[in-house]
Amino acid sequence: MVIFGATGDLTQRKLIPALYNIAADGDLPAALTVVGFARREKTDEQFRAELEAATRQFSRQAVGDELWKSFEQRLYYHCSEFADDDGYKRLAERLDQIDKDRGTRGNRLFYLAVAPAEFEGIMQKLYAFGLNHAARGSWARVIVEKPFGIDLPSALELNQVVARAFPERDTFRIDHFLGKETAQNIMVLRFANAIFEPLWNHHYIDHVQITASESLGVGSRGPYYDKSGALRDMVQNHLLQLLSLVAMEPPTDLSADSVRDEKVKVIRALRPITGDAVARDVVRGQYTAGAINGETVVGYRQEERLDPQSTTESYVALKVNIDNWRWADVPFYVRVGKRLPKSGTEIAVQFKNAPSVLFNKESTGVGTNVLVIRIQPDEGISLRMQAKIPGGTVRIEPVKMDFHYGTSFGKASPEAYERLLLDAMSGDATLFARRDEVEHAWKFIDPIENAWHKSDSPPKLCEYPAGSWGPQEAEQLMERDGRAWRRL
Ligand code: BG6
Repeated sequence: MVIFGATGDLTQRKLIPALYNIAADGDLPAALTVVGFARREKTDEQFRAELEAATRQFSRQAVGDELWKSFEQRLYYHCSEFADDDGYKRLAERLDQIDKDRGTRGNRLFYLAVAPAEFEGIMQKLYAFGLNHAARGSWARVIVEKPFGIDLPSALELNQVVARAFPERDTFRIDHFLGKETAQNIMVLRFANAIFEPLWNHHYIDHVQITASESLGVGSRGPYYDKSGALRDMVQNHLLQLLSLVAMEPPTDLSADSVRDEKVKVIRALRPITGDAVARDVVRGQYTAGAINGETVVGYRQEERLDPQSTTESYVALKVNIDNWRWADVPFYVRVGKRLPKSGTEIAVQFKNAPSVLFNKESTGVGTNVLVIRIQPDEGISLRMQAKIPGGTVRIEPVKMDFHYGTSFGKASPEAYERLLLDAMSGDATLFARRDEVEHAWKFIDPIENAWHKSDSPPKLCEYPAGSWGPQEAEQLMERDGRAWRRL
């Protein structure tokens, strides 16, 4: 596995700790060897020492001294500029040598953990030096990190650049939300149980809410984030992926293409939000100074290395319709934001009211059934239903049936990157975004971005104090439809 951008944040926080944890669980192929490709001068020993410190800090499981000692023998450093021919020539020789020394059998997994501006150059060099071609009986694959483009034209171009060097079946576009255990469980919940699917449609479901809330601000990622904003950073990829898992039809089988065929149909069926609908159905917000857990924090525009006039959104809420038979008139409300009171990602499927007879006569009524899929933290699933409070009179209160991963399975879920790296090694692309999924997602997002940034009278950018649940306008988006956001 060759990691481009090996001295970066992603390698230290996610990739190497993930590989270490796979090794600790006994699942790492014995020959797996990592070559970190980056510009800074460094020896293998220095590289290993840095990664050890990072892994001790970020690993899911405590790092054992013995295991680390054997694990680090798999790590090598390769110093080169991304544009330097000689660096790739040496890389090819080095990989051949590693094949002989460590039994990697000519298999190559290239991981592009670099800024998008570097993609094209690296792809061209891999192509020029034949590194994209596997020897007979071996394989060569590429993993591409997000952001996968900033709009449809750039995504198309990027897809072409990658396609020149690697066929689609060897291209793995990471969306780490798909590697989260609870996201994988959505299909199991829906299709391994008989009781949900008959209700999973417009006859019984009133609406769906998808929330990804973070208490953190933009931190040190200001310059990247400011060019992106919440819609591109989270909705275009992670949240549309979750939405498509909730809304898709059952696939004919579990192969990568069958699953992704069904997901892409959902994305293609999203009703475009264009013209006046942008102001009506999408709320964008930016946090001002406030307090999180009693600690005062600065506003978005005062964050490190950020434009004090920035109009980038750190919050977005939108109402999405899926124009197909199953979901006719069932809105999906999606919201995501930074500097909200707490961190959590959940999908809430809100069922329709029971008929207004018997217990439902009063206008105050009893509550509806809600199935909540908690993606993180406290991963699990709960179903809210009504129950009679014990006693002489009939008083009804909502209660919950609750499943927690931790208590049911007695062990922590693996990190998303652990699952995804293993899948890429074994060539299973089910949990990776296919080219058409990414492109159709941009097709949906672009008109909203254009209305915000390219129109003469853009819809307003709303403010919300850090530590609140977002702008008032987002509450109004729901109130207008006689609904309300759930409190996490
Ligand atoms: C990333 C976004 O893809 O996902 C970040 O760029 C966001 O802005 C992160 O914070 C959230 O991921 P997780 O796994 O921490 O919920």
